Amino acid sequence: MSKIYTPTQDMEFLTPFGPTMGYLKLPDLAVAALNSCLNDKLVDYSDNLVGKVREELKFDNRAEQVALKAVANFVYKYFAFTVSRNTFGEQQADRETNDYSLELISAWFVRQFEGEYNPLHIHPNCQLSCVGYLALPDGIEAEWEEDYKDHHPSHGHIHFASGTAAAYSSTNFLVKPRVGDFYIFPSHVFHGVYPFYTKGERRSFSMNMNFVETAKNGPTG
Ligand SMILES: [Fe+2]
Repeated sequence: MSKIYTPTQDMEFLTPFGPTMGYLKLPDLAVAALNSCLNDKLVDYSDNLVGKVREELKFDNRAEQVALKAVANFVYKYFAFTVSRNTFGEQQADRETNDYSLELISAWFVRQFEGEYNPLHIHPNCQLSCVGYLALPDGIEAEWEEDYKDHHPSHGHIHFASGTAAAYSSTNFLVKPRVGDFYIFPSHVFHGVYPFYTKGERRSFSMNMNFVETAKNGPTG
C-alpha cells in the first residue's frame, strides 16, 4: 500500500525517490582483522564476478565472521533508516516486536592492481551489497592529485549510477576509496570501478546479503 506524505514542518526538501546509500567508517582493528584473513588457501571466486582484476577470493568462515561482526549492527541501522524513509516515518524497525537477521549469501576479496578495472554491473540474487576498502597502493594520492586537475577525475574510483538523468534529479555517485570506508547499497544499483596506474594493490571486500525481518508473532507483510 502506498504511504502518504503529510508535511510536519513549514518547509522541507524531500528525496523520496531512489535507492539509499549507507556509509560506515570501519575501525582500524576491523580493517586489520580482515586483511589478516587474506591467505593463499582462499578459493578463487572470479568465475562468479565480472571484475577484470588479478584476484577475487571467496571469504572463508573466519573472514565471514570478522566482516559480519564489523558491519551487522550498521546493516540494521541502514534497514531501519530505509523503513522509516520509505514510509515517511509511518513504520519503524522495532527489535521489541520483530526479530532481525542478516543472511550472508556470498562474500569475497577483490585484489585490483594497476591497469585493472571492474566493469559496470549489479549483484543479482540478493537484496543488499556492499564494499569496504582494505588497502591502497602507496603513492596513489599523487596520482589522484594529478587526476583531480582533470574535468572528470575518476582513477580507481567506484562509480554508482541509478535512474535516468533529468533536471533536479541525481543519478551519479562517485566515490574515492579510502582504507576503512564501507558502503552499503541495494544490490540492483549499477556500479563499476575505473583503473588506476600507480603500482600496487587496491584491495576491497564485498558481500551479498539479505536482511530479514520477522514479526515475533509471525511473519510481517
Ligand atoms: Fe560489485
